[in-house]
Amino acid sequence: MSHLFEALDFCENPLYEQIISDIGKQQYSIVENFFSLEEVDLLRQSLVIRQEEDAFKKAAIGNRVNESIVKSIRGDHIFWIDETIANTSELLFFNKVNDLITYLNRTCFLGILHKEFHYAVYPKSTFYKRHIDTFQNDDRRKLSFVCYLNEEGWLPENGGELVLYLNENGQETEKIIYPFPGRIVIFESQIIEHEVRPVNAERLSITGWLKTR
Ligand code: OGA
Ligand code: MN
Repeated sequence: MSHLFEALDFCENPLYEQIISDIGKQQYSIVENFFSLEEVDLLRQSLVIRQEEDAFKKAAIGNRVNESIVKSIRGDHIFWIDETIANTSELLFFNKVNDLITYLNRTCFLGILHKEFHYAVYPKSTFYKRHIDTFQNDDRRKLSFVCYLNEEGWLPENGGELVLYLNENGQETEKIIYPFPGRIVIFESQIIEHEVRPVNAERLSITGWLKTR
């Protein structure tokens, strides 16, 4: 094998390098058009099919928490996506995510071995109160990954902003992120508190976590 071939084996990906550099500096990264509008359309259709199958379960917190308490914290409906029975659109989603994970593991030694993803539907006037994505007795979630599946033209008055609470020199600041289609947000699960502000129009997304052993 030639030396040239070996040298070409590792090729830097500028997009992934941007994500790594953003997370290194600010503990989060936002990427526009990570998924094309065509890909978002396909994923939205898959979500709708799952919904029609009545496969959505009420999102639960922990195991057996009183439903009204749950509703006062989060109002989304979720459906876990099983990669082993994923349809074409979902495979396309996982291919992109797996590619990113491979890169992160190879260049940053992150040791991401597991992942979990669910669709989320926020009906009108639901929200998800300020929280952190790791559980008390389980800190395997390293990076949170959200991708928005709304139709083009999401308006500010639709609400549903993801708000990241950041600490800048001891001052709390809010990073407000609208759920525009194709956009992804990645952030450090163990550090960043965040919320989903009340929505005034149905809000669709895929949310997931990259996890260590
Ligand atoms: C979550 C979450 C953020 C979003 O599901 O834990 O914080 O923008 N989602 O949907
Ligand atoms: Mn969260």
